[in-house]
Amino acid sequence: MQSAQHTARLTGLLAACLLVPALAAAEFTTALETNNCAPAPENLRGDPEIGQELHEEHCASCHGLSGGADVVVMHMDQTPADQSDPEYMQTIPDAYLYLAICRGGEGIGKSVVMAPWGDFFSDQEIRDLIAWIRTFSGT
Ligand code: HEC
Repeated sequence: MQSAQHTARLTGLLAACLLVPALAAAEFTTALETNNCAPAPENLRGDPEIGQELHEEHCASCHGLSGGADVVVMHMDQTPADQSDPEYMQTIPDAYLYLAICRGGEGIGKSVVMAPWGDFFSDQEIRDLIAWIRTFSGT
């Protein structure tokens, strides 16, 4: 009796262990998987507040907190463009920003120092980042 209960509990535990990662994996789909870094070009701006958090954690070390690239980074021979400059940013469509983030510098013919993030962020997270980056220049 006790061993049957024990077996049942173990089976339940095992099922939970297998199920939880499967669910987590199913919930999170990266941009690369969703659209191969080529989303429909309209409405690529998500939630800037979430974008800000992601940017501070993953991007600001090279791009600066306000996109001005006003940081010193060792071994970065190519300095990122000033994303707080409205004149420059007006020339750049959201689809270009999306591709740059998703595919990295290589995806837009620029430096490989800018890593590809398409297998790390979801489509929505890249849109959130774009919304935040746009606030630097007001474009
Ligand atoms: C290791 C430093 C580094 C990190 C971290 C980094 N970048 Fe970059 N990024 C660069 C460099 C360098 C360039 C410029 C490449 C060039 O001009 O050849 C660049 C270019 C870009 C561009 C293209 C802009 C343009 O004017 O062409 C975008 C958009 C961008 N980065 C967004 C991001 C975002 C969003 C993150 C965080 C998820 C991020 N970067 C993280 C170094 C970095």
